[in-house]
Amino acid sequence: MPIVGLEAVRYGVDDVELAARFFSDFGLETRERGEAGAVLTVAGEGTRVELRKMTDTSLPEAVEAGPTLREIVWAVSDKHALQQVAAEVTRDRKVTEDAEGRLHLIGPGGFGLAFEVTKATRETAPVDRSAHPANERARGYERAVPDHLGHLGVGTANIEEMVDFYKRLGFTVSDMIRGAGVFIRAPGSINHHNLFVSRRGASSMQHLSLRVADIDELGLGMTQLMMKGWKHLWGPGRHRPGSDLFVFFRNPAGATIEYHCDEDFIVDPTTWTPREFEPQALSHWGGPPPQEMTRGSALAQKPT
Ligand SMILES: [Fe+2]
Repeated sequence: MPIVGLEAVRYGVDDVELAARFFSDFGLETRERGEAGAVLTVAGEGTRVELRKMTDTSLPEAVEAGPTLREIVWAVSDKHALQQVAAEVTRDRKVTEDAEGRLHLIGPGGFGLAFEVTKATRETAPVDRSAHPANERARGYERAVPDHLGHLGVGTANIEEMVDFYKRLGFTVSDMIRGAGVFIRAPGSINHHNLFVSRRGASSMQHLSLRVADIDELGLGMTQLMMKGWKHLWGPGRHRPGSDLFVFFRNPAGATIEYHCDEDFIVDPTTWTPREFEPQALSHWGGPPPQEMTRGSALAQKPT
């Protein structure tokens, strides 16, 4: 059942123009933009961030008030694999198919889920992005342009239910945080995780993370967002689980957003042993997360 990663993330927002401007500043390409919504894509890869008015009745219901994640769209390798997904999820969920053949359902925790045959181009082997060969200057960047729609973080009151659901679709646990969260990866992905499920009192959006090439592009992206008035929250720092370098901002489309780079790649799962980390390992360096990091989409706000 090769689910290969995230294909798209759909948000319901109160201010389409503001959210579209944020994602454009973040480094995505604008494909469509109008009153009702906008679609932005990850350059080269072709994965999408879709923004719709939060009152749009075509969106699945929100798990919380305010602008937030409305649907997680998983990328499936081909039609046959999509049929396998359909056979599994229809065992205990109501599934609808739209005109493009995309499957929609409500998953554990009340999160809207969709599955579609991928049109994106993904790397299937790790690429060393930090090369700085002798006798050459550092590469440098004009601006940060993420190259991969990496992972989502969501909160739920029932981690086990959500992880069990994804295990039925072939996902694997990569690492855990004691009492607090589980990192899982899709069967056809080499990312350390495509989803971080964290324990919360109720379902909530936590963060979306897009990959940049290296610490240079991450630092440049951080600086450029801050100079445009977007609200920096945490980092740069280094997670221990997943090993990613990170920096977090508030996201006007809902909760928070992260640039990451230099994460663990799991190419041969037989050599990987999941490990349980203590909560403080979320930041090997870079300081502990500010308390507001855990407040879900209540964070979404206009730039200062
Ligand atoms: Fe993350």
